Amino acid sequence: MAKLKGIRSLLVLGFVAAAFLAVVCHAAEFPVTFDANFVVTSDGNHAQVLDGGQVVNLALVEYSTATFASKSSYLFGSIGFNIKLAPGNTAGTVTTFFLASSGDAHDELDFEFLGNVSGQPYSLQTNVYAHGVGNREQRINLWFDPTAEFHSYTLRWTRELITFYVDNTPIRVFRNNEAIGVPYLNSQAMPILAAVWDGSTWATQGGKYPINWAYQPFVASYQGFGVDGCLVLNDDISYCATGPVDAWWNAQHYQYLTPEQITTLKYVQSNYVYYDYCNDKVRYPIVPPECVKNWYGS
Ligand SMILES: *[C@@H]1O[C@H](CO)[C@@H](O)[C@H](O)[C@H]1NC(C)=O
Repeated sequence: MAKLKGIRSLLVLGFVAAAFLAVVCHAAEFPVTFDANFVVTSDGNHAQVLDGGQVVNLALVEYSTATFASKSSYLFGSIGFNIKLAPGNTAGTVTTFFLASSGDAHDELDFEFLGNVSGQPYSLQTNVYAHGVGNREQRINLWFDPTAEFHSYTLRWTRELITFYVDNTPIRVFRNNEAIGVPYLNSQAMPILAAVWDGSTWATQGGKYPINWAYQPFVASYQGFGVDGCLVLNDDISYCATGPVDAWWNAQHYQYLTPEQITTLKYVQSNYVYYDYCNDKVRYPIVPPECVKNWYGS
C-alpha cells in the first residue's frame, strides 16, 4: 500500500515536473505554494503566509518563536528555500531551516544564519548529525548581503553525498563514509522545519551579544515551497531507501561533485570558511575520520 502510494506520488511528481518544464518554455514560472507541502506550526501572527502562498514571513518577537514545517518526511532529494534575512541589529537571532528525524539516534541537516550587531555580517553555520552524533559545525562568511535580496540555500541529499549549496555554489559536502565506519543519513526520514528563534546564549560572537528586543520583530522571508525529494509515506522508508533506480537522486552523477564544483568548493573553503570542526584541534585532538576523506566525493 505504502509502496503503491509512493509510486503514485512519484508519478505525480514526474507529471508535475514535465508540466513545469513545458510551462517554462512558454511562460513564467509556475510556483508551488506553501500550503501544498508546508504548515505553520507556531502562532499564525508570527508566521504569515503571503501572496497566495508564495512567500512566508517568520517574525521572531519576544518569547515567541516563529516556525513552519513540512507535512511530510523525506529520504533523499533536493531541499531548500530562497530566503531574505532580517536586516539591522539581529544579534542573538538564529534564522534556520533544517531536516531532522525523531528519536535518540537522530539524523539532522542544518542551515543556520546567525545574526549580528548592526553593520556586522551574518554567519552561515551548517551542521550534520548522523545517528545522533552532531558537533560538526562549519561557519562561513557569505559573499553578499543576505538581507538585501533573496538567495537560494539548498541541500542536495543523495545516497552517497550531501551537498550544501548557496546560490548553486557548493559550500560543504558530507559524503557517505560508511566504508570507514562513519554513519550516513540513509535510513531515517526527515521532515523539513524552518524557524527564527532566540539563540542569545550562543549565536553571536559566542553569546556576547544577546538579542536586544528593542529591535523586534526580526522578520525573515522564505520562498520556494516545492520539494524535489523522495516522499516517505506511513513511516515506511523501504521504497525511498532502496529505489527507484531511475530517480535522479540515485543517478551516478549526483553521487559526486564535478571537477568544476570541487574547484569551487575548495575556493569557498579557503576564502569564506572561518570555522570548521575538522580543524578544531581543541575539540578534536584526533581529526574525525570523515574530515580526512570528505571533499572530493571520491
Ligand atoms: C559578527 O561580526 C563579528 C565582527 O565582524 C565577526 O567576528 C563574527 O564572525 C560575526 N558573526 C557572528 C555570528 O558572531
